[in-house]
Amino acid sequence: MDIRFSGASVRYGERTVLQPLTLSLTERRIGIIGLNGSGKTTFARLINGLVKPTTGTVTVNGLDTVEDASATLAEAGFIFQNPQHQIIMPIVHEDIAFGLKNCGLKADEIERRTAAVLERFGIAHLAKRRVHELSGGETQLVAIASVLVTGPGILILDEPTNQLDLKNRRLVENTIAGLGEHTIVISHDLPLIERFDRVILFHDGRLVADGPASESIRAYHAVAGC
Ligand SMILES: Nc1ncnc2c1ncn2[C@@H]1O[C@H](COP(=O)(O)OP(=O)(O)O)[C@@H](O)[C@H]1O
Ligand SMILES: [Mg+2]
Repeated sequence: MDIRFSGASVRYGERTVLQPLTLSLTERRIGIIGLNGSGKTTFARLINGLVKPTTGTVTVNGLDTVEDASATLAEAGFIFQNPQHQIIMPIVHEDIAFGLKNCGLKADEIERRTAAVLERFGIAHLAKRRVHELSGGETQLVAIASVLVTGPGILILDEPTNQLDLKNRRLVENTIAGLGEHTIVISHDLPLIERFDRVILFHDGRLVADGPASESIRAYHAVAGC
């Protein structure tokens, strides 16, 4: 993975919500922390082109997120803060197959890959269930499966364990910890983030710490004042 921010900033009207950033992301597990409104989601959305930089550029494996928007999306999958918003089809199996149909694959290949990803995430028993009847943790796993089935090497997750009870939280945390893909996770779940290779702290639209998890988490406590 090679994600590069070169002087990238984001402004809405008069307000700069992300100050110019120049950095490169290569580690396998990267955590993003910070108070509400500090710019975390904006930072993540720059990576998959959902937000365009007001100044500077962002590239993913050499692809410009604005110039090569659709190629970028194939490299980096995104799980939204509320995964219900990205589930398109009513039945689990159909939702996972949906992304593959868009890739123009043949029916038997779609079936093979869908079955493989259901198996990989331990959700084969949910294949015929209605998505809106699943628990929060199960919905999160279906969203992850639906994104990873098309084979992006990078997965970005925006507060994936936020609305989950303890049991579902553990299930999703363990799934994220076991992913072979490069992962960038925005989270307030410090026990999850603590295990990551690199943690970046945002405060008021500025990057204020970037380094080992323990150091950035300490800086987070300092800016939060607790
Ligand atoms: N589309 C938008 N228009 C105007 N302001 C926005 C928009 N998106 C985000 N913001 C503002 O940018 C700041 C950072 O937001 P965000 O990146 O969502 O923070 P976080 O994910 O850390 O909570 C917030 O003050 C938010 O209100
Ligand atoms: Mg956010």
